[in-house]
Amino acid sequence: MVIAIDGPAASGKGTLARRLAAHYGLPHLDTGLLYRAVGAIVLAQGRLQDEAASVEAARALDVATLDPEALRTAELGEAASVVAARGGVRAALLDLQHRFAAQPGGAVLDGRDIGTVICPKAQAKLFVTATPEVRAERRHRELLGRGEDIAYAAVLADIRKRDERDSSRAAAPLVQADDAVLLDTSALDIAQSFDAALAIVEARRTGR
Ligand code: CDP
Repeated sequence: MVIAIDGPAASGKGTLARRLAAHYGLPHLDTGLLYRAVGAIVLAQGRLQDEAASVEAARALDVATLDPEALRTAELGEAASVVAARGGVRAALLDLQHRFAAQPGGAVLDGRDIGTVICPKAQAKLFVTATPEVRAERRHRELLGRGEDIAYAAVLADIRKRDERDSSRAAAPLVQADDAVLLDTSALDIAQSFDAALAIVEARRTGR
């Protein structure tokens, strides 16, 4: 079973993907980390604006070396969104994601284009969202918890800017797949969101 989870920044899709993967005993890939890693490489080279450098970094990416903790900063979220708008970067990361999804038994992938581009045939597709304010609150809390010194207003501005860039780009824009189920987590805590997500996946899995 392949479960595809998409949605905007800090919608809670990562937490849901991790929990669903644990529930079903499936491997999980947070595809945002791939773009964050590419962003980190070109940023360190001082070449964020250099498209060829980002494509090269994407081609050379080794998933085994990704460090989620180091990659989940606000700065790298922004850099990820810049490199993710480039078709060449997305193409270079396709194969790796397809192979991950094709593992025997299945997989859970979360990102922006899993249900639309990476796994259009996924058995279960969720589009997880929440209001920008709720998402900014969650992300703000998370970044403070990680020791980043950042204001709520800056987080909200970053989320709005990233949503706009991710949704309006030509290459695999953030959009709900026709057969994805919308899950708005604005008024739900983590346990409630998980229950709702599980019900959606179970309905697909059992054909109800
Ligand atoms: O955790 P958060 O939702 O803030 O971000 P993320 O999922 O780590 O993704 C960071 C950026 O990578 C997004 O803003 C997208 O621009 C890009 N991304 C993408 O284009 N396609 C994906 N499948 C995953 C992420």
